[in-house]
Amino acid sequence: MSSEIVLRTIGLGKSYRGRRVVQDLNLEVRRGDVFGFLGPNGAGKSTTIRMILSLITPLTGSVEIFGQDLHRNRERALASVAGIVEKPDFYLYLSAVRNMQIAGSLTLRRTPKKEKIDVCLGLVGLSDRAGDRVKTYSHGMKQRLGIAQALLCDPELIILDEPTNGLDPQGMKEVRELVHHLATEKGITVFLSSHLLNEVEQVATRMAIINKGNLIVQGSVDELLRSNANTVVVNVTPQKKALLLLQKMRSASVVETAEQGIRVEIDQKRIPAMVAALVESGCQVHAVIPEKSLERYFLSMTEQS
Ligand SMILES: Nc1ncnc2c1ncn2[C@@H]1O[C@H](COP(=O)(O)OP(=O)(O)OP(=O)(O)O)[C@@H](O)[C@H]1O
Ligand SMILES: [Mg+2]
Repeated sequence: MSSEIVLRTIGLGKSYRGRRVVQDLNLEVRRGDVFGFLGPNGAGKSTTIRMILSLITPLTGSVEIFGQDLHRNRERALASVAGIVEKPDFYLYLSAVRNMQIAGSLTLRRTPKKEKIDVCLGLVGLSDRAGDRVKTYSHGMKQRLGIAQALLCDPELIILDEPTNGLDPQGMKEVRELVHHLATEKGITVFLSSHLLNEVEQVATRMAIINKGNLIVQGSVDELLRSNANTVVVNVTPQKKALLLLQKMRSASVVETAEQGIRVEIDQKRIPAMVAALVESGCQVHAVIPEKSLERYFLSMTEQS
């Protein structure tokens, strides 16, 4: 695997009316990544993406794309990049093909060939609706049309700001599959933002979490998941009795009690002994569920900061 860095932000920061909304942000996106840029509402995702796409000027720091400094070499840095911030805009009374022609002539400064438009619409699964007015498109179809437009310039890096926002589960799945296809079959590096963890977990190879403009953590999704692997939820009754017992155990540490059970940090090898101790003291253990989702991780990270 190549570890070429295709996008780097160095100490990137932005303020609005004296208020810091992005602070000292250092991101590293490598070729072939599906990079999930995760953060709750207002975390600074769109602002960061706007700086990366050179739509707004950073207050501090810099952006390098394919080794080119964005400020000094804007054209070259952005030559192989396409992006959508917040939501794509269309001429609703024109067809998808006509929208593609217009979008193409703006980004490529010439009207794209019909074959090229067909290929891009095919990639996002819109071939059979290509002649219909965009007005008649569903939200998910519009998102995919936006991605088709972004693909017109054969980008090596594509930046998508919350591409699944507002979609139903089926629409989300389609966008995820499309992103996966672009990365694995077309070799396009994808940077996408989201406020949904399981979304990022399902599609991204690497991720960064930001909150209130600050980077909380960055790394491979697998590694970040594994760093959480020692947490289990113990579904046990009576819960109060079990809690007292678990709190006394030296091999386990209780994180919290929740509806589904007691969340415990424990070495995998010690789980049988913990279960045995609970059973011996008269508790009933219904389930011990390893916590794989980044959900807790995300929540605890964003709560801590
Ligand atoms: N043009 C602007 N003027 C003033 N404040 C702004 C502007 N754009 C963004 N902000 C503020 O900057 C902060 C970060 O906003 P941003 O849109 O980057 O967050 P986000 O992570 O994209 O959130 P969301 O998930 O809601 O899209 C917010 O507090 C927002 O109110
Ligand atoms: Mg946003």
